[in-house]
Amino acid sequence: MNEKLQASGNNIQNELHRIAEVAGFLWQRNWAEANGGNISVNLTHLADYELLNLPASTTGCNLAEEVPAIANNIFYVTGTGKRMRDVAKSPIEFGAIIRITADGKKFEIISEKPVKPTSELPSHLSIHNFLMAKGNSKSVVLHTHPTELIALTHSNTFLNAEHFTQTLWAMIPEARVIIPKGLGVVPYLLPGTVELARATIKQLEKHDVVMWEKHGTLAVGEDIADCFDVIDTLTKSARIYLFARTAGFVPHGLTKAQLDELARAFNLNL
Ligand code: 13P
Ligand code: ZN
Repeated sequence: MNEKLQASGNNIQNELHRIAEVAGFLWQRNWAEANGGNISVNLTHLADYELLNLPASTTGCNLAEEVPAIANNIFYVTGTGKRMRDVAKSPIEFGAIIRITADGKKFEIISEKPVKPTSELPSHLSIHNFLMAKGNSKSVVLHTHPTELIALTHSNTFLNAEHFTQTLWAMIPEARVIIPKGLGVVPYLLPGTVELARATIKQLEKHDVVMWEKHGTLAVGEDIADCFDVIDTLTKSARIYLFARTAGFVPHGLTKAQLDELARAFNLNL
C-alpha cells in the first residue's frame, strides 16, 4: 500500500476493514465460489485533498460509458479474478483504489499495486453514476452469488419480480421490513457487459436489490453491512421456501393482511 493510503486516516482504513469483514461473510455463506462476486465503495467523502489527488499508478483506461456525475471520485473496487476469501484477508492487495478522470471518460488506479478492477466495473460505475446523478447517498454496490436465490431464477415463475418479491416477503416478517421496495429481476445477460449495467440501472429506479437471472444478486446501499443484510435476509426467505417445498408442502406464507399490517407498522409504503 502506498504511504499516503497507509496514512490516509481512520476513515479509509475503517472502510477497508468493513469491506474485509463482509467479503469474509460472503465466502462463509458459500456465495463466493472461486472469484464469484465483486464490491465497490465510493470513498470520496472519506478522503482528504491529498488522497484525492494522489498521482496515478497507471495510465487512464477508457470506460465503456461515460460517468460524468462521479468525475474525480475515488472508489475501492475488488480485483477481477480475485477470490473473496482473499479480499477478506487484504482488500487492498486483492483490489484497487481507482479515480474517475475529470472528463468522466476514464479511470486510473491510485493504489500502489495496479490490480485490474472487476469485470463488472461497467455495472458498478454506471450504478454509482446513476445514484450520484439522482443525489442519492448510497455509496456501496455489492454483487454476490447466493445459491438459493439463484436457484429460484431457474424457474420462469420467479422471473416475475412481483411474484418473487411476494413469495420472499411472505416467508418472514423481516423480509417485508428489510427489503421494503422488493426485488427487481434482470433476464440473463452476459456478465460484465454494458447491457447488463443498463438493465440493472432500470431496475434500480424502483428497487435497491436486483436478481440477475442464473447468475447472482446485486444490492446498493449507504453501508456495506446493509447491502449484506438485505441479501442475507432474502436468502433466508428463499431457504425457508425451498426447505418447505423439499419437505413436500407449499409454505402458507404470511397473509396479505399480515404483510399490510407490517407495512403500516413500519411506515413501509414508499
Ligand atoms: P470478477 O472476478 O471479474 O469480479 O467477476 C466475478 C463475477 O461475479 C462476475 O459477475
Ligand atoms: Zn457474478
